Amino acid sequence: MKGLILSGGRGTRLRPITYTSAKQLVPVANKPILFYGIEALAASGIREIGIVVGDTKREIMDAVGDGARFGVRVTYIEQEAPLGLAHAVLVSEPYLGADPFVMYLGDNLIREKLAPLVQRFGEEKPNAQILLAHVPNPQQFGVAELADGKVVRLVEKPSQPPSDLALVGVYMFDRTVFEAVKAIKPSARGELEITDAIQRLIDTGRTVRPHVIEGWWKDTGKLEDLLEANRIILDTLEPRLEGEIEASEIHGKVIVEAGAKIVRSVVRGPAIIGKGATIENAYIGPFTAVGDQVVIRGSEVEHSIILEGSSISDVGGRIESSLVGRNVVIYRSESKPKSYNLMLGDRSQVGLV
Ligand code: DAU
Repeated sequence: MKGLILSGGRGTRLRPITYTSAKQLVPVANKPILFYGIEALAASGIREIGIVVGDTKREIMDAVGDGARFGVRVTYIEQEAPLGLAHAVLVSEPYLGADPFVMYLGDNLIREKLAPLVQRFGEEKPNAQILLAHVPNPQQFGVAELADGKVVRLVEKPSQPPSDLALVGVYMFDRTVFEAVKAIKPSARGELEITDAIQRLIDTGRTVRPHVIEGWWKDTGKLEDLLEANRIILDTLEPRLEGEIEASEIHGKVIVEAGAKIVRSVVRGPAIIGKGATIENAYIGPFTAVGDQVVIRGSEVEHSIILEGSSISDVGGRIESSLVGRNVVIYRSESKPKSYNLMLGDRSQVGLV
């Protein structure tokens, strides 16, 4: 059994962060989302993983390397343009060969252990196994219609969803999927949809087994989902204080990485403070991930993700439910006239009070 992680695509819903960085490398609890997928596949016994890459290939390769540190062997597969999930499967055929495989969308996070599902797929050998989850907003996903426990119909992002069962971004296939991805045509959004390929498997009499997952699952393509994933993962971490803590209060589950300094501050977990970060005269509230080398002085931050190298000083109000990119500087200026001095990239969003 091989693994196939899809890490191409454009990440338009997380702009401007994704202008300069792959969406799969945005950290959740200070770890790139993509790493959770690699770890999940490795934990289910998979040792060979193909990663489909596009424009952000270099960055993904620099972050993941050859996979040795995850205990797997990674092969990079280039997709010339994000022409759809089924297109990504098509370009991966030479790598996958006749092996069955688990396909994992690089921006998905899923709690359910994959090992039992991978094992069952290997033993019972259906042609495909799909994972489904009940969601309140099925219009935003591929949606499955079941009858007597069998999948009868799949539709991609329907305006009138036939059920509330969304396709989770983890799929298992045998080689019959290649016939299906070759037979389908691009959808209205111009992509070769994996949803249509699975429908094709059903229509040609192949076995597609559904599995409804119990635990949480997040497609981190949007800010609110990313913050929610951060909240959930931070809550599962074991507290650990390795940095320096001086005249400060640390409450609840908090990780302070080595080289970080917390001075005259309050940190209320679940929260993580990255390596070499400085927190001074500040309040870090629950569900906050502060990246490596970040400086937060005289400010309050809660339920947010602050990426490495940024600095936040003397901000009057509390920064909340925010995603701050790398090396961003937010400060209070004392100069007169009293004014906002902004240098923001395209599609930045600033909410002022
Ligand atoms: O998250 C689950 C949903 O993922 C499913 O419910 C949908 O049925 C499925 O189509 C997919 O929908 P999205 O529109 O959210 O997919 P997205 O374009 O975000 O791509 C998912 C991942 O695959 C992401 O890491 C980027 C990568 N990708 C995407 C495309 C279109 C590629 O590597 N190549 C591509 O051509």
